Amino acid sequence: MTRENKLYEGKAKIVWATEDPNEVAQQFKDDATAFDGKKKGQIARKGVCNARISAILFRLLEEHGIATQLVDLIFEDTLLCKKLQMYPVEVVVRNYAAGSICKRLGFEEGAQMKQPLLEFFLKNDSLGDPLVTEVHIEELALVGGEELGEIKRLALKINAVLSKFFAERGVMLVDFKLEFGKDSEGNIVLGDEISPDTCRFWDANTKKKLDKDRFRRDLGDVEEAYAEMLKRVEK
Ligand code: TMP
Ligand code: ASP
Repeated sequence: MTRENKLYEGKAKIVWATEDPNEVAQQFKDDATAFDGKKKGQIARKGVCNARISAILFRLLEEHGIATQLVDLIFEDTLLCKKLQMYPVEVVVRNYAAGSICKRLGFEEGAQMKQPLLEFFLKNDSLGDPLVTEVHIEELALVGGEELGEIKRLALKINAVLSKFFAERGVMLVDFKLEFGKDSEGNIVLGDEISPDTCRFWDANTKKKLDKDRFRRDLGDVEEAYAEMLKRVEK
């Protein structure tokens, strides 16, 4: 594959065309942003860590019967992926309170949810990716009714598989964000990435944050956290 035809460049990834019209290559960058791009920086080796972590987790999910976009890891920072028509919503699963739900609803950081909590956010940078309810999703026709049911079922199954996987590696899966799309046959498929950029991971014993919150909040040891999470998922 040659990386000549850039289809799209986002804050943390570049999407390249490939020889196959049904496939794209996702290159993970070391660039990091937070707070709608207001904070910018670089995290050394983040691209390599995120590509490898995503590849391992997508393969794990495939083994559990969840369809993902992943075809193969083709360079150390690049995944070959099935092309999908992405839904314009982000699905957040929360097992413990952290981040925006604490600010929005007054939860104390670390409070355990009675059951995994699902939230949806509209993918729209100019609106600041607002929280949307199922009523909004229906009114704006962001996702079909039956498809939303399937997406919710998949998100909860993914949470069960990942929570167990990380617990076995001494990591609490606090929360994470998923993006789904449709393939050329109309199947709902997990896309994007699962990495320390898109999840909150806490060490189960020390509660040390091992994710992008170290960058968002200037906590130090940022590169070390990404490297540590790669080490744990490779175990
Ligand atoms: P939040 O607490 O800021 O709503 O974030 C919830 C989860 O979603 C957290 O694991 C980080 C992830 N996330 C993204 O992947 N992309 C984003 O743009 C934001 C705001 C959060
Ligand atoms: N990636 C998002 C941004 O640039 C937010 C985040 O991950 O905190 O703003």
